[in-house]
Amino acid sequence: MAFQRLGTGQYARSFILDGLRGVGKTVLLNEADVMARKHGWISSGVVECNEDDDLPLLMARLCHRALRRLSAGRRVGGGVARALMHGISQQNAPVLLIGAGLPQLPLMLKNAKPYTERLFDFRTIGGLPRSTAATALAVPAERQGARFTRSALELILDRTQGYPHFLQQWGKTVWREAEGSEITLGNARAAEELVNDELDRRFFRDRYEKATGAERIYMAAMADLGDESHSSAEIAAHMGAAQKDLSVRRAGLIDKGLIYNPVASELDFTVPQFGSYLRRIHRFDPSERPKRGRRRSGVRASTGI
Ligand SMILES: Nc1ncnc2c1ncn2[C@@H]1O[C@H](COP(=O)(O)OP(=O)(O)OP(=O)(O)O)[C@@H](O)[C@H]1O
Ligand SMILES: [Mg+2]
Repeated sequence: MAFQRLGTGQYARSFILDGLRGVGKTVLLNEADVMARKHGWISSGVVECNEDDDLPLLMARLCHRALRRLSAGRRVGGGVARALMHGISQQNAPVLLIGAGLPQLPLMLKNAKPYTERLFDFRTIGGLPRSTAATALAVPAERQGARFTRSALELILDRTQGYPHFLQQWGKTVWREAEGSEITLGNARAAEELVNDELDRRFFRDRYEKATGAERIYMAAMADLGDESHSSAEIAAHMGAAQKDLSVRRAGLIDKGLIYNPVASELDFTVPQFGSYLRRIHRFDPSERPKRGRRRSGVRASTGI
């Protein structure tokens, strides 16, 4: 719709998507890129920016790429190129920016620039509603002449909580498990261990390994408190430590994009179901202390405060 509005000369606001890991942000950005091109717009394409990347430099490259495509003479003239150079919103140019990031992104942007709310629409994407998640599983199976039994479907919907990445893993695995044209509860149960194993290896572990020893203990304590969000005071009390002694590791986890503040002073994981992963692989032990790194022997220290 935004592309159509732009096409008729109306103003369309740029927007920012935010959501947990694996919720489909990159898939949506790629889809928007395809749609823009279909509507005849010039697109700079999708780029990923990680913590260590230089965002202004990436943005400059994207603008440059779009300008080069513009000067190749498609659809719009030099006025737009000048507008891009001088500021999109002031010139009301037919330019749209779509960004996506983890749930802390909107707050970071608002803190960085006070009038961000006027520049962007913010939309949060979460897990799919149960009926949509059921459709995402059932329709591709039906196309191949197979159907899920009700109980198999219910089990998968319970386990995935509608998260696209989990639905994808379950769909793929249960499909391999099924022998006939019916996907049964037995198939779903057999798939469960395989799915957990695959998710542990390819989805959760990388994130866990980004954390230092001290940060891992902090996350284990969070997970031990249960799946809802928790205040830093509550986590500190659970660890038997003072909040100020935990501030470095809390900040480290926020910087690494592993935890965020869903509301002020509460903390939660950016990775869906990360709590249950941690309870599986790193049970909280109140007496556990981070191991000291041995810098002298050349091993990188993996500890924090
Ligand atoms: N519309 C969709 N159709 C099919 N699969 C999808 C869809 N959206 C998401 N997925 C599945 O979910 C996975 C994760 O999606 P995606 O990589 O877009 O998540 P993300 O929000 O960008 O995650 P991250 O925060 O880790 O970058 C995809 O690899 C794919 O398996
Ligand atoms: Mg992504």
